[in-house]
Amino acid sequence: MAGEKPPVILEGIGLVREYPGRAGLLRRAQPNRALKGVDLQLRRGSTLSVVGETGCGKSTLGRILTLIDPMTDGELIVDGEQVDIRRHHLSRELRRKVRIVFQSPYGSLNPRKKIGDALGQELLLNTSLDATERRVRVGDMLERVGLQRDHAGRYPHMFSGGQRQRIAIARALMVNPKILILDEPVSALDLSVQAKVLNLLADLQREFGLSYVFISHDLSVVRRISDEVMVMNSGEVVERGTCEDIFANPSHPYTRQLLASTPSTDPDAIAARLARHAERRARAASQTTGDERD
Ligand SMILES: Nc1ncnc2c1ncn2[C@@H]1O[C@H](COP(=O)(O)OP(=O)(O)OP(=O)(O)O)[C@@H](O)[C@H]1O
Ligand SMILES: [Mg+2]
Repeated sequence: MAGEKPPVILEGIGLVREYPGRAGLLRRAQPNRALKGVDLQLRRGSTLSVVGETGCGKSTLGRILTLIDPMTDGELIVDGEQVDIRRHHLSRELRRKVRIVFQSPYGSLNPRKKIGDALGQELLLNTSLDATERRVRVGDMLERVGLQRDHAGRYPHMFSGGQRQRIAIARALMVNPKILILDEPVSALDLSVQAKVLNLLADLQREFGLSYVFISHDLSVVRRISDEVMVMNSGEVVERGTCEDIFANPSHPYTRQLLASTPSTDPDAIAARLARHAERRARAASQTTGDERD
């Protein structure tokens, strides 16, 4: 479709992140440059995927974009506001604009905290809503992500993996962010559950006008959901473009290699695979009882 592109809501220019290296017997510590000058632009309401093999710097980039980690060098502009490089003086308002969802919500959800309290805490810290208002908002959001209001009284271990990921998404959305950084958000889930969570993310994106940075090593997922893709290798972007272009004409050898090493990046094959999987799950579910929903 022709027309003007939406405005850029998140921009990184020359992002560098160095971690301190370890010294050897006869050698001084060399810093490990996890990001070597990464540029990126995320447009409002769109999904930019970041792909690449393990250790290429995807999560490091995600943490910098979420303002969790400082960068060593570069410029970061969030919704028109330049971010202080060392993250001093970051306003609460700025932090609220970008939220992250990790691969394993088990790691990020406190096992001893009821999920209603975990979600409510976001509102307690960031809004002036009273307890009743917070409870209502938490219930609304749980329903919005496909759970039930009374799930607020449960602990994280009382949910399935897919449900926990829904909770993590709900928590990220409590303060009405504009941008979500999704770091391998479905990688730990079964294929059929993956599809449902991806559908949920797509619905939420449309409903709230959200912009996503979707970090993944799974190209079949990336192909389904991205507007633009950037391919990283060893802390550098080696190729970027629209999703169609990258998959139709990968120009960098690394991208070609990445595509070739993915079992199937053909959308019809993926749809068929998901359908087969869903069928198997449905058959298995009909043989057991239980009301768990992923
Ligand atoms: N806190 C840290 N301290 C030191 N080095 C780190 C730290 N976090 C990441 N690194 C290093 O930075 C590089 C990039 O790591 P990162 O976790 O960003 O990769 P990734 O692309 O997310 O990998 P994966 O696909 O396995 O999640 C790696 O060499 C890693 O060892
Ligand atoms: Mg990672």
